[in-house]
Amino acid sequence: MDIVVSGIRSTGKLHLGNYFGALKNFVKMQHENTCYFFIADFHSLTTHPNPADLHGSVKQVLAEYLACGLDPEVATLYVQSDIPEIPELYLLLNMNAYLGELERCTSFKDKVRSQPNNVNAGLLTYPTLMAADIIIHKAHKVPVGKDQEQHLEMTRTFANRFNRLYNVEYFPEPVAYNFGEQLVKIPGLDGSGKMGKSEGNAIYLSDDPETIRKKVMKAVSDSGPTEPNQPKPEAIQNLFTIMSVVSKPDTLKFFEEKYSSCEIRYGDMKKQLAEDITLFTNPFREKIESILADSDYLRKVAKMGAEKARESATKTLAEVREIIGFRKF
Ligand code: TRP
Repeated sequence: MDIVVSGIRSTGKLHLGNYFGALKNFVKMQHENTCYFFIADFHSLTTHPNPADLHGSVKQVLAEYLACGLDPEVATLYVQSDIPEIPELYLLLNMNAYLGELERCTSFKDKVRSQPNNVNAGLLTYPTLMAADIIIHKAHKVPVGKDQEQHLEMTRTFANRFNRLYNVEYFPEPVAYNFGEQLVKIPGLDGSGKMGKSEGNAIYLSDDPETIRKKVMKAVSDSGPTEPNQPKPEAIQNLFTIMSVVSKPDTLKFFEEKYSSCEIRYGDMKKQLAEDITLFTNPFREKIESILADSDYLRKVAKMGAEKARESATKTLAEVREIIGFRKF
């Protein structure tokens, strides 16, 4: 079976975009591949989280992984910081990562622009840590969104460079992977762009019905179409896109027709959308709550995942050390 690795940073609760863009896909692929799914808590340190919040954020994502249907008996679910071999491999990879290529990385350049007062070395070497995450298990496939493709490209560069430097065929070249149908990119509620944690435009799997209703009713729309079959502006298309994943096909068709005939009332559409989102997320919210309340279960899952992940990680690291030339006395 192919080896799959992917992670989500523990920087907030999971939203609909994370579910349709990643988790739904993870759940399907866990049976057909040897999967390692982890919570990237080291990566979350680039933004200096409050110590009082760090563990809670990790716990939240772990509970959400489980609530979405990842099975700890099938896939290996673990917390990145439980695997000390990852930072060691990161250190080794950093020795062959060049300042120029790290500085040219788009996500780094964006951070330099958006947070000029916190351009730390962790941000610069974010791609080597991500490469370590992936190649520590000698992954073949990495389910990631478009925004991570450059990081994956850099992972291939680092893996190849290692192979060439030591004249070995050790690390496979991991490729981007989506399971089955095209992923739906979920837009936010603020009229443009995708749903994101930092944008304040997200609906979380753990949101209660009232919160969902308020968010949807406030979503950006406009005064409505003036001509039949008019193309939809982005903000309106976004509402339809979200409706296409949570509502029944008939419901979507109903509002499509109302739009085409200029009879649509966005208030009605939003009310329906909020109801359908709530119906969709309610089971997740309930599961998340019950899993979060069961600390023993979470502890067991994290321990089991760390053991399985370390089995693979210690093997890789021992071989990498051997290849580099470290020897025991
Ligand atoms: N950088 C990824 C993101 O922000 C998270 C991540 C960290 C990751 N390590 C990874 C994803 C390894 C895939 C594989 O979404």
